[in-house]
Amino acid sequence: MPLSRRPKPWIFPPPKGRLTAEKLLFAHGRKVVVAGVTFELEPGTVLGVIGPSGTGKSTLARLLTGVWRPQNGILRLDGADMHQWDQNKLGRHIGYLPQDVELFTGSVALNIGRFQEEDQAAVQAAAEFAGIHDYIAGLPDGYATVLEEQGRNLPGGLRQRIGLARALFASPRLVILDEPDANLDFTGLEALKRIVEELKGQGVTVVLITHRSSLLGLTDKLLLLVNGQQAAYGPTAEVLQKISSGAVSATGPAPAPAASALPGPPPPPLQPAPVTVQ
Ligand SMILES: Nc1ncnc2c1ncn2[C@@H]1O[C@H](COP(=O)(O)OP(=O)(O)O)[C@@H](O)[C@H]1O
Ligand SMILES: [Mg+2]
Repeated sequence: MPLSRRPKPWIFPPPKGRLTAEKLLFAHGRKVVVAGVTFELEPGTVLGVIGPSGTGKSTLARLLTGVWRPQNGILRLDGADMHQWDQNKLGRHIGYLPQDVELFTGSVALNIGRFQEEDQAAVQAAAEFAGIHDYIAGLPDGYATVLEEQGRNLPGGLRQRIGLARALFASPRLVILDEPDANLDFTGLEALKRIVEELKGQGVTVVLITHRSSLLGLTDKLLLLVNGQQAAYGPTAEVLQKISSGAVSATGPAPAPAASALPGPPPPPLQPAPVTVQ
């Protein structure tokens, strides 16, 4: 076989959702943004990720979707390096709600169904799961309603809920929610809690990035990122105890340290400060 020929990606069966990260390292240019992230999540585990602004949480979220690849370390889904997957096939099993929801000028169905509009039952199921079916069905054109201007004219909470429905589309086994509560009112928050609980009940692995302490009650494990470094990780109660007792301090507006050489050992953590769990 000629050396230049890339092997065909292995076709894995649908994953169960066991997600493991081993010393993930990611840098933007020479700036290390995520370093040393290591965890192991069985299917049905909810991992909370906390830490101050600019500490690398959203970058970690993108790494976990498999779209961005760590420069060092390994991310495994059901034991296989995520990058052995065919990216298109992998995407179907992963639901991702980015911090800034990106909608497209197109129908609600297209937006929820990731352009697989023909899968109407799955689109509606996702909307029902996200608690917005009644709202959509009540629109004059229902699911065919076209979102103008990439949905920028919609209220923030509704954009968030459509993004959430998209993340739930087609029964993913891993769901990554990056500050999903940011624009939600009380009803939206209650819906979000129900959704996370239901996902957990279905054995779906959930990564929940949030500042909201009421949502941390849904998590089994907690990962505290400070300046891109894993400052604490373990069962939620233990990590919260460490933080409240001062055994682990966190945060501070300091930016992530610059890497002098990549790949290489991560730089030491900068001076920590108190965590912003509200
Ligand atoms: N595309 C990018 N290019 C360069 N730096 C980036 C990029 N995206 C994020 N960063 C930087 O990476 C760091 C972590 O950002 P982010 O992951 O968004 O943190 P958080 O979600 O915790 O607020 C920040 O210092 C941010 O400025
Ligand atoms: Mg973020």
